[in-house]
Amino acid sequence: LWTVAADGFIVQFVNTVSAGGRKIGMVSMANNRAPGRTAVLAVHSAAFALACLVDAAPLDAEDDPGAALYQRHCAACHEGGVAEAPSRAALERLSIDAVYAALTDGIMQSQAAALSDTERQQLASALGQRRHGAANTVVNACDTTVAGESKASLSWQGWGADAGNTRSVDGRFSSINVSNVDALELSWVFAIPDGSRPRSQPGIDSHRVYLGSQSGIVYALDRYSGCEYWRFEAAAEVRTAISVVAPREGEGSSLVFADMDAQVYALDADSGEIRWRVSAGDHPAATITGSPKVHDGRVFVPLSSSEVLSAVDPAYPCCSFRGGVVALDLSSGRELWRTHTVAQPQNVGKSRNGATARWAPSGAPVWNSPTIDVDRELLYVGTGENYSRPASDTSDAIIALSLDDGEIAWVHQARAEDAWNVACLVEDRRDNCPDPPGPDFDFGAQPILLHTPGGEDVLVAGQKSGDVYALDPARDGRLLWHKKLGHGGFNGGVHWGLTGGVGVVYVPISDSPHNEHSDKAPLRPGLTALNLEDGSQRWQHRLSITACDEHDYRCYPSLSAAPTRVNDLVFAGGLDGFLQAFSADTGELLWRFDTVRPYDAVNLSEAVGGSIDSDGPVIDGDQLFINSGYDKFGEIPGNVLLVFRLAQEPELKEDGP
Ligand code: HEC
Repeated sequence: LWTVAADGFIVQFVNTVSAGGRKIGMVSMANNRAPGRTAVLAVHSAAFALACLVDAAPLDAEDDPGAALYQRHCAACHEGGVAEAPSRAALERLSIDAVYAALTDGIMQSQAAALSDTERQQLASALGQRRHGAANTVVNACDTTVAGESKASLSWQGWGADAGNTRSVDGRFSSINVSNVDALELSWVFAIPDGSRPRSQPGIDSHRVYLGSQSGIVYALDRYSGCEYWRFEAAAEVRTAISVVAPREGEGSSLVFADMDAQVYALDADSGEIRWRVSAGDHPAATITGSPKVHDGRVFVPLSSSEVLSAVDPAYPCCSFRGGVVALDLSSGRELWRTHTVAQPQNVGKSRNGATARWAPSGAPVWNSPTIDVDRELLYVGTGENYSRPASDTSDAIIALSLDDGEIAWVHQARAEDAWNVACLVEDRRDNCPDPPGPDFDFGAQPILLHTPGGEDVLVAGQKSGDVYALDPARDGRLLWHKKLGHGGFNGGVHWGLTGGVGVVYVPISDSPHNEHSDKAPLRPGLTALNLEDGSQRWQHRLSITACDEHDYRCYPSLSAAPTRVNDLVFAGGLDGFLQAFSADTGELLWRFDTVRPYDAVNLSEAVGGSIDSDGPVIDGDQLFINSGYDKFGEIPGNVLLVFRLAQEPELKEDGP
């Protein structure tokens, strides 16, 4: 109808709000010439847009001490130097409070350690978009008398749905299948305030859906309407799934999750009141991003860390974090056992510049949710790379631990000598980069325990290298077969998850063009079904990377997030923002939904979808829950929980025509 030229600005964010009965567009823009400065434009018509430049920040970056501090201390990583660091546009979607918190007691505290409090505040005001986080206001409270006591879902618990972490749901628990997938419709949308990367996989029970967030708030929403029952403030970002645990004698259901400060929480699901909270980390850089696994009255917590980032500081003695698993008692939080993936680090020499002490072994973090083998009384986890040399024989490995006391039963190392940290990516800061640097081929995805039609157990694991391994749990993890399905790279290969069914495993491949390439092998994003017995291929659905002039990732159909099987369908979300359903029998693409767009959310007005990465669809009954938006590696930021539901059959009228 009309166009408004906003010369010198780049549009970052488009949205609509209702005002005086009219829809008004809100456009957030970044100034090209003065990076870091944004403006918000309210648009109803061309004339109205020109009259309504709201909240424009000063354009002169040179006078801004925060902008100068950013250039000096932050730009090296956040302007593309370290792919994993959120882009500047993504940082600018956070509130001032959120940036300040990241620098003070959050993930960036070691990067900001040398800065004064005033300097941190200046940085926060230069980057943060809003004076106060929108997270503080409840705008869609439920009528609390409506929901009764919730019953934990039998179909889906934690990250992997069942003990074997198979991320699969059958007809007893969900009606969604090939014959009705076309009737799947968007039912409601929740906008996560103050975030650009929702990655806490929702938990569900009979009445509610629970979701963690970047600001640390855990929300309890009505699963059919999205209204808010209660919220709980954790000390730091919650990246884990929220596990809803079936009631025990005399207790209502509990929610179990963990935060980036390595604290584990148990809450009362009905009230949101805290039952216990325990600090599970034993290192200053410890984090918990893999989801705690609840089984038989115990909570098994995987330990990962941000020490890979600390290593960028040439003065940091690299490295001393050890990956591991901690077992806690579900009713009290009391620690039962703790097992590390590497031995106690020793001083083994100097960094490359000879100025700092080097410690090893280190790393082998656990990024995935433990998988339970009930029959053998074992749990399985995959590990990541070592952070320093000498490397250990437990990095990039699948490890079996006794459920009872955490003793290591066996280790299957897929790749030896992989020692790497973020210093390897930052020019002039490579002092702590292991020599030679390894490829960073973690097991990010949870191992899954599947069964052949004949009833044999097979443990399947997928690696960031693009390799898939089938191990024999009856013979100490001996290799049954191995396939390489993707090119692989630091961003996967197989990145966050696998799913399967009887006799079959479904393997998603990311192979984003942004991965570092050691050779010229073709990228192969897509989904492959393999026979469990011998790894032979049932079908493969390759997705094609197209050239387009939109944001790069709009063109990358990479399946990095964890997929989910329901009945005869496999759902998988892409970095391009599409959620897709494939036939589990043939691989045919049957349904897709483009999540990259603004939404009318049940709460906030700023609701937009983006890349789907990390966590995947949770499916129960006639509903599917999925997060959209991811701000790392330059992907498409967003802040929504999308809830899909099968369209309801029109009700039959009883009193006839
Ligand atoms: C060594 C590289 C590096 C440097 C230097 C660095 N960052 Fe980061 N930053 C990262 C990475 C990587 C992440 C993502 C970490 C994660 O989410 O696991 C990140 C995340 C963040 C976040 C997001 C926190 C959230 O809630 O998602 C903020 C804010 C941030 N950085 C601000 C800064 C500021 C301000 C500076 C300068 C003082 C800075 N960073 C310096 C690498 C860096």
